Amino acid sequence: MKKLMVTGGLGFIGSYFIDMALKSGYYVVNVDKKTYAAREDLDFDTRKHYELIEADIVELTHLPVGIDAIVNFAAESHVDNSILANHDFFHSNVKGVYNLLELIRAKDETDQPLLLHISTDEVYGTAHEGAYTELDRLKPSNPYSGSKAAADQLILGWKHTYGLPVLICRSCNNYGYGQYPEKLLAKTIEHLLRGRKMTVHGDGTYRREWIYAEDNCRGIMTVLEKGTPGQIYNISSAEEHSVLDAVRMIVEEMGVKEEDAIVHIPNRPGQDLRYSVDCAKVRALGWEPEMTLRKYIPEYIRLYKKKLSHE
Ligand SMILES: NC(=O)c1ccc[n+]([C@@H]2O[C@H](COP(=O)([O-])OP(=O)(O)OC[C@H]3O[C@@H](n4cnc5c(N)ncnc54)[C@H](O)[C@@H]3O)[C@@H](O)[C@H]2O)c1
Repeated sequence: MKKLMVTGGLGFIGSYFIDMALKSGYYVVNVDKKTYAAREDLDFDTRKHYELIEADIVELTHLPVGIDAIVNFAAESHVDNSILANHDFFHSNVKGVYNLLELIRAKDETDQPLLLHISTDEVYGTAHEGAYTELDRLKPSNPYSGSKAAADQLILGWKHTYGLPVLICRSCNNYGYGQYPEKLLAKTIEHLLRGRKMTVHGDGTYRREWIYAEDNCRGIMTVLEKGTPGQIYNISSAEEHSVLDAVRMIVEEMGVKEEDAIVHIPNRPGQDLRYSVDCAKVRALGWEPEMTLRKYIPEYIRLYKKKLSHE
């Protein structure tokens, strides 16, 4: 049985990944420091071949024995928070990755686990036209994407100098149940269900690609099992909508009038106009996304209704 150390596995995407890894027969050691974003509705503790270490990846002094790979989801992940207070972003997203690299480097070469690091399409900055490939240069626009780009660069530096076995996945905006309701779509659903209006920065015309967290995690698993160490893989659905249109899909599905549902607020500094990544490389490994945002929205709303009915 292969053993994975997954970090940030109580968070939104990490929790989908752990569920998938356990179902696929991996042993999982989850290292999570339980920030505000950690989910409390998970049943992992009742599952076989799972253990939780409640710890900060920056403070870890050794890696669990016998792990084949580390999948690093642990991060501060919300752009708005990074603009207001960036310290924790540098701490977890940069120093955390530095510590993981050093813990791997401290091991004998034959005993070094692979590091699969979860990055983001935001590291490329605005894609005015076309889609960025993994060879394009990084041009982050805000403290969150700056911290993620810094981590990617550290990983590449450690790979070249010390020959560490590494992989990087850069994915687009994820959606799915379990996301902390500070993020756009979860927040929209919760606000509308509570009879509140959703806030949209600026005119909302900036465009993003949207991927179901489960599709993203299948992509990450594909890269883990079939990717070439040392490589970077973009993971995206190519389903592109403006932020306003994505919010409107939910508003329409819930049958609320747009003027009763959306309020525009000043745009945030560092707002990128469009993200788009080319994911031919991961598709060549045999992966493709299955869900679409429009298809998922009724289920999305149903799950949040159920959650709020238990409050
Ligand atoms: N959410 C998205 O749309 C998206 C898109 C692309 C990339 N990503 C990346 O995917 C990863 C996961 O994102 P998410 O949305 O699931 O995040 P999240 O905020 O929902 O969860 C993060 C998890 O990491 C844990 N954590 C944070 N700092 C830690 C630390 N120092 N040590 C140990 N645990 C720590 C938290 O407790 C939490 O459980 C992040 O690296 C993020 O940058 C997210």
